[in-house]
Amino acid sequence: MTRQDSIEFVKAFLRHPAKVGAVAPSSPALAQQMVRDLHVQAGQTLIEFGPGTGSFTTAILAALPAGASYLGIELDEKFVALLRRRFTQAEFVHSSAEHAARLHQDRQLPPVRAVLCGLPFASLPPTVQDAVIANLDQLLGIGAEFRTFQYVHAYPLPTAVRFRRRMSQLLGPCRRSAAVLRNLPPAYVLTWKRI
Ligand SMILES: C[S@@+](CC[C@H](N)C(=O)[O-])C[C@H]1O[C@@H](n2cnc3c(N)ncnc32)[C@H](O)[C@@H]1O
Repeated sequence: MTRQDSIEFVKAFLRHPAKVGAVAPSSPALAQQMVRDLHVQAGQTLIEFGPGTGSFTTAILAALPAGASYLGIELDEKFVALLRRRFTQAEFVHSSAEHAARLHQDRQLPPVRAVLCGLPFASLPPTVQDAVIANLDQLLGIGAEFRTFQYVHAYPLPTAVRFRRRMSQLLGPCRRSAAVLRNLPPAYVLTWKRI
């Protein structure tokens, strides 16, 4: 993470506090937990929701084998420009995760093996939560997984609980990592898999 990333992040937070949901990019430790034991293969796609300044993208692209596809979907235009400059080999679309299934289909990408998500669900309205979950229902086939993080302090918030409950109605119970303490603030990584 560069100093410039931190500045861009604070600016984005001040523009859209609820949508950005954090004042600093995630740490490398959280990024490593997000990609741990991901088994994306050639001929499969990984979609990232809300890559921001690319904290997870670096770890994701390093973990993807040749022949696997990546698509990043980011709502903030300035972040999209930064991501395109930084990761010239990857595709980023300036759009909302609420349209992920159509964006995946339009590009005729291979089947989705994993969706990694940085969206701040605890501060997003229920309508956005539900639209994103409906897209996940379309995107995730058997064996595919969805991974996101929630801050430890925000974990009990009603909006965070609502999101987890809706996800578990769709995909069953989630697997929760130990708290990643080397992130400010500390966070859990949550994984749901379609079985
Ligand atoms: C908490 S930041 C996480 C950024 C990065 N993944 C990280 O962990 O450092 C949330 C990101 O989600 C983006 N975002 C918010 N709502 C979105 C939506 N509906 N679709 C796509 N991106 C969205 C924000 O612009 C921001 O970049």
